[in-house]
Amino acid sequence: MKLGVCYYPEHWPESVWADDARRMRELGISVVRVGEFAWSRLEPTRDNFHFDWLRRALDVLHAEGLEVVLGTPTATPPKWLVDEHPSILAVDEKGHPKGFGSRRHYCFSSQVYRQECQRIVERVVREFGTHPSVTTWQTDNEYGCHSTIVSYSADALAAFQSWCERRYQTIEKLNTEWGNVFWSMEYLSFDQIPLPMLSVTELNPAHRLAFWRFSSDQVASFNKLQSEIIKKHSPDRDVMHNFMGNFTEFDHYDTAKDIDIAAWDNYPLGFLDRDGVNLEDQKKWFRTGHPDSSAFHHDLYRGMGRLWIIEQQPGPVNWAPHNPAPLPGMIRLWALEAMAHDAELMSWFRWRQMPAAQEQMHTGLLLPDGTEDEAVDEIRQLGEDLAEIKRVMHSDDAPLQSEVALVFDYQGDQMLRIQPQGQNYGPLEWMQQFYSSVRRNGVDLDIIQPGAKLDGYKLVILANSVFISDELASLLASFKGHVVIGPRCGSKTEEYSIPPELPPAAVQSLMPIKVTRVESLADFYSVATEGGFNAIKWREKVSGDVDAIDKFDDGWGFYYCHDRCHYLNACMDEESLVRFVENRLKEAGISTYKCSEGLRLRRKGNLVFAFNYGPDSVELDGSKRYLIGGQTLGVAEIAVWSD
Ligand code: GAL
Repeated sequence: MKLGVCYYPEHWPESVWADDARRMRELGISVVRVGEFAWSRLEPTRDNFHFDWLRRALDVLHAEGLEVVLGTPTATPPKWLVDEHPSILAVDEKGHPKGFGSRRHYCFSSQVYRQECQRIVERVVREFGTHPSVTTWQTDNEYGCHSTIVSYSADALAAFQSWCERRYQTIEKLNTEWGNVFWSMEYLSFDQIPLPMLSVTELNPAHRLAFWRFSSDQVASFNKLQSEIIKKHSPDRDVMHNFMGNFTEFDHYDTAKDIDIAAWDNYPLGFLDRDGVNLEDQKKWFRTGHPDSSAFHHDLYRGMGRLWIIEQQPGPVNWAPHNPAPLPGMIRLWALEAMAHDAELMSWFRWRQMPAAQEQMHTGLLLPDGTEDEAVDEIRQLGEDLAEIKRVMHSDDAPLQSEVALVFDYQGDQMLRIQPQGQNYGPLEWMQQFYSSVRRNGVDLDIIQPGAKLDGYKLVILANSVFISDELASLLASFKGHVVIGPRCGSKTEEYSIPPELPPAAVQSLMPIKVTRVESLADFYSVATEGGFNAIKWREKVSGDVDAIDKFDDGWGFYYCHDRCHYLNACMDEESLVRFVENRLKEAGISTYKCSEGLRLRRKGNLVFAFNYGPDSVELDGSKRYLIGGQTLGVAEIAVWSD
């Protein structure tokens, strides 16, 4: 794994660039990302291109042997462009255009903006595409950051109507598929279809799903446009995009088709506070981040391309409700954990803290005055760790396929958000709970796309596959291992209605049951089974030819097993799901190792990594010869041994 940093030469006097580059190299950094917000400096007025400063910056970095990742500047259209073409602005749900003064103010559907992007990307790529320092391009920056996937502009409306026409062909088909006879919502032609906004009460879920699919397609085609220009004018360079954490507003698998490197931006403490984690967990993991948060995303994104962490939290950030400092040791732990999950790059955001503008309170590796901030010592230590790991790791060890696969369905996640049927139902949280339950049992897992090949796995888990296609159902039918199907899987058709055969629809060939009633539960209410499992949030009543394995105390059945297929008809509390998953792992012939709450393991080639997120020290196996750390693992510490 290489080390990197995000650097903004345009924020600093040219006189410090050479010193910065030297200090980066001395710290063990070899990759530097630049340029992704620099449009106003690259083209201060239309067609007046200023490329010299960037060329000099790249030369300075190159002179120190640093590789450059150059960003296309399209996340920040400059003021002159917005003034020339106000129609490029995204429009919010109330119909108001978004204003200039921050970033990501563009609409993915604006044809004018697409042409402008094509123009600037082509110029920048032609200019720097063969510069010897440039090895990789980043497209735009964090598609969707600050809730910017959807736009309700006139351009979006026209593009959505054509998208509907292409998908449904006739308006009668669309009306039937969406169930528009309900509440007299029928349309006479495609140009009557509005964007899903400003309605009196709930909109038709099928309409919302179609708009989500359309918006997701817009992101993929926007990215493809840039990727094609890069491939044409900067041959042999890789294309990367930086995805985000806990973000499902578009189908990342589609966008990832046009990139080589699936990078993501990891802010473990920021996510914990921002993303609706329950208070008890926030307290527990306040200075470490949740023990599965980073790993989950590493495993998700390594399923889309080569894995990079292009932005990593170096200390307190500025954008979460509260911005604590990480526990000493976490900078090193997060980095080694990324490495253990096959990351090729760990790069921090940012080199030097910027004393002005929005992110002045966001730490960097250096303080605004250029002195080293606290992360730097840990990065030095990390350099030694990586050298040690390199020495003992078998170099021919390609990433291993795990024994367990978790199917991640972006569309399913969205379907559950559109009609949650219980305000506390968190689809991503439930998915992550499954992920954690496998890891609490000491088992590694892959996260895969619906429809991906299942060969080689012993256990496959479906947690949010709300619509199960015939393709997925037949993959499951021919799969030789065990399948766990969670609640609400197979509960809708592709166009968002209840399937005629009742849920779980397409998987009834594996599991001959019908879900006849569902209920959602408030947070203060849970229901226990005779076997001691505890259902929370969601429960289903099931009928059919398969008997329940266990029973709730009010008589509803719990958990159905038919051959190697397991249907779980309730959401469960943390400890119940860990135990449930442990039983399924064992039945599938997978060896488990019970991890305490904050301990996580990860195998990579011949090495095993142990990470302790706390709250207490952990005693590991005394019979191992530790390469890093030892038998007693303190909080925020790492141990590595060879198996
Ligand atoms: C990311 C973004 C960066 C910077 C960073 C601050 O979301 O890509 O540009 O804003 O957050 O944590």
